[in-house]
Amino acid sequence: MAKLGVGLLGCGGIGLHHARRLVRQEHVELVGVADAVPEAAASASAELGVPAFAGYDDLLARPEVAAVLVATPNHTHREATLRAIGRGQATSSARSRWPGPSESATR
Ligand SMILES: NC(=O)c1ccc[n+]([C@@H]2O[C@H](COP(=O)([O-])OP(=O)(O)OC[C@H]3O[C@@H](n4cnc5c(N)ncnc54)[C@H](O)[C@@H]3O)[C@@H](O)[C@H]2O)c1
Repeated sequence: MAKLGVGLLGCGGIGLHHARRLVRQEHVELVGVADAVPEAAASASAELGVPAFAGYDDLLARPEVAAVLVATPNHTHREATLRAIGRGQATSSARSRWPGPSESATR
């Protein structure tokens, strides 16, 4: 079975938490990481053994990225998610609180 290629956007606390578990999954392959702070992406890249990209667009443009784990601050989730969906990629957002339909429609 082909592995699902996953890109990590946001290499902070929860992004790294999930990524460390993703790399142990049989049917999933972490294929790249990106962060607005180059040092954060570089550190995650070195730890996880995958390429680092500068931000949304460089990561999402990679053909091996079939799904994106969005682990950036809440206010950036909408843009990141819509960009990924626009490319036909699946997304999952790390959120400690779901804002609900009325709030999410405006954020
Ligand atoms: N920390 C937790 O326990 C926890 C639990 C559940 C959900 N969450 C959610 O996960 C998300 C991230 O939380 P965190 O604690 O990991 O934050 P964090 O600040 O540790 O990490 C966020 C990372 O995103 C990067 N970033 C910010 N804007 C960016 C952009 N536009 N493009 C690329 N990278 C960008 C930052 O440089 C940083 O490395 C939040 O939405 C939070 O609510 C966190």
